[in-house]
Amino acid sequence: MAQARKLRVGVLLSGGGTNLQALLDACADASFPAEIALVVSNNEDAFGLTRARRAGVETAVLDHRPYAKREEFEADLDRLLRGHDVEVICLAGFLRVLTEGFVEAWRDRMLNIHPSLLPAYKGLHTHARALADGVATHGCTVHFVRPALDDGPLVVQAEVPVEPGDDVDSLAARVLTREHAIYPLALKLLGDGRLKVVDDHVRIDGAPGPLRLGWESVDAADPHGRAS
Ligand code: GRF
Repeated sequence: MAQARKLRVGVLLSGGGTNLQALLDACADASFPAEIALVVSNNEDAFGLTRARRAGVETAVLDHRPYAKREEFEADLDRLLRGHDVEVICLAGFLRVLTEGFVEAWRDRMLNIHPSLLPAYKGLHTHARALADGVATHGCTVHFVRPALDDGPLVVQAEVPVEPGDDVDSLAARVLTREHAIYPLALKLLGDGRLKVVDDHVRIDGAPGPLRLGWESVDAADPHGRAS
């Protein structure tokens, strides 16, 4: 049987790339509806680049430092992505603020993963802030990107319990396990054509989103949501 055409994804990262790894692992499944066409890092030492190369995925380094203006850096980034026929961008720990022009050019075609249950704890140090507030439930979110920081239609969220005695590292590690489950799941929903943005809110199969997963409901045996 002919292989269905896959959504071509560009991943932008600056660091270790454990979320990239989760996406690569999901894409290794022949039935997954997306493929990673290119991984771009602004940091040549990012371990995420090694992960991509190991998986046989093309990589590019685009150092932002020689550019006088953000827009000039982004113009080259845009050219690079389009030159690889990228249709959807996944931000995976990309430590550059993107301008409104770039974000709007990729409107509803750029996803981000954020380590909190948005709209709570936008910005940095999410785990420390959640611990300081004494919340019982923390988590992570995949969302479409909008120009404002950590803003945009929510696609999938996973709840993560805060355990007695947690510190930033233990909580971050627990949240990360769920990040690795929900990013591939969100990409699968997008690739399967099940996501639509209506009035700046996500609909999944026509029903109001986001998909919100409780701690117990993410199946560790099937973290990529392939069974749905
Ligand atoms: C994750 O915490 C993600 O939520 C945030 O950046 C971090 C990237 O981690 N956006 P990794 O490089 O994927 O391990």
